[in-house]
Amino acid sequence: MEFNKQDALNQGLAKWIIKQKKLLNISAISEETGVSRTQLNRVLEGKADFNNGHFNKLFPVLKDWFGLTEEQLIELVQDAAKILAFWNQKGGVGKTTCCNSIAGVLTDQGKKVLVMDCDYQGNSTSLWNIDKQAFPMEIMDALEDTQGELIRDCIVQLHDISEQLYILPSYGKLNNLETSEKLTTKQKLESFKNIVNKIRFEYDYILMDMRPDMYGLFSEAPLGAAEWVFLPVEASLFSFDGLSRSVSYLKERKKDNPLLKIGGAFFNRTKPGKNQMEQIENYALGAEREGIYVFESIIRDSVGIQKAFTYRYDPTVFLNKFNEGEIADFPKTQLEPIKNAKSDFMELTTELLNRIQNG
Ligand SMILES: Nc1ncnc2c1ncn2[C@@H]1O[C@H](COP(=O)(O)OP(=O)(O)OP(=O)(O)O)[C@@H](O)[C@H]1O
Ligand SMILES: [Mg+2]
Repeated sequence: MEFNKQDALNQGLAKWIIKQKKLLNISAISEETGVSRTQLNRVLEGKADFNNGHFNKLFPVLKDWFGLTEEQLIELVQDAAKILAFWNQKGGVGKTTCCNSIAGVLTDQGKKVLVMDCDYQGNSTSLWNIDKQAFPMEIMDALEDTQGELIRDCIVQLHDISEQLYILPSYGKLNNLETSEKLTTKQKLESFKNIVNKIRFEYDYILMDMRPDMYGLFSEAPLGAAEWVFLPVEASLFSFDGLSRSVSYLKERKKDNPLLKIGGAFFNRTKPGKNQMEQIENYALGAEREGIYVFESIIRDSVGIQKAFTYRYDPTVFLNKFNEGEIADFPKTQLEPIKNAKSDFMELTTELLNRIQNG
């Protein structure tokens, strides 16, 4: 992803201020720079960011007072989030399920994760039971704000699930992306990249749950922001032609986003049985001949996933909540499928992280 250097500097400065909090005299800085104390305090509380105007006032003074350099600020934000998209042109293959279950595993490992609901159907949003009354802002509001000031107000922290899990909800307005008159076509294409650039220094992972489209803005704009794209494929639906077409399309996308890497395809909803295993192996061989990485880890068809989801949790979060005594009405004897589902997603996540590290 090409970084906007100024965005990195603005966010680096916010991080620096927070880090140096105890040594800084906020009143004196405010007086000298003209940046309000309210703004400085909001940044210190993690509730706001600096814009270019703030930066231009603050940096020369802090450089003078503390010898602060641009390199120091860039270094502070080098651990930018990895941006992973879950996509397949086919509907119903498990994009939402896998994207959010991987988010569950990553947060359980202590990572700070944002799930971006990039689908106007809002399935990730309803999975985590986001209350639209309480959190009315959504992804489309952030995309239409070319100044990039609304994005943080649109993100919901899932306090009652994990302090590490955040979601950028979608309540349906995203369906108007193509017709929106607030943005030019070029702005629409760059809109996802712009919001991701604003926040990518604040998370370890940003996972994009995409809708099943292959043409137009709905896939081009989110894929313009992604670093990696992973394709869940359903063994029963899987056709090599379909995957091949999807991958050709993704290769096309690299023209707009040269940093986009195709992380590979993984099987979802596999059912035990010799026939299916043979089928999977054949498909995998075919895909590999085309240069498509196929995951060794597979996600089994599981009532455990569906059960966890009826409680509005992914399997990992479900088990945590169960162990914390928060799901009292669930019989212990029926936990096995959920444990299996969690273990499938843990394996898949490990393989996925290896892919990212080696790529
Ligand atoms: N491994 C699995 N075992 C059992 N059920 C599954 C599994 N994976 C997904 N499902 C179920 O399949 C249905 C479709 O899954 P999901 O919504 O994740 O697909 P999707 O690709 O996001 O669909 P869309 O294209 O509409 O966005 C859901 O009801 C989900 O619970
Ligand atoms: Mg979906």
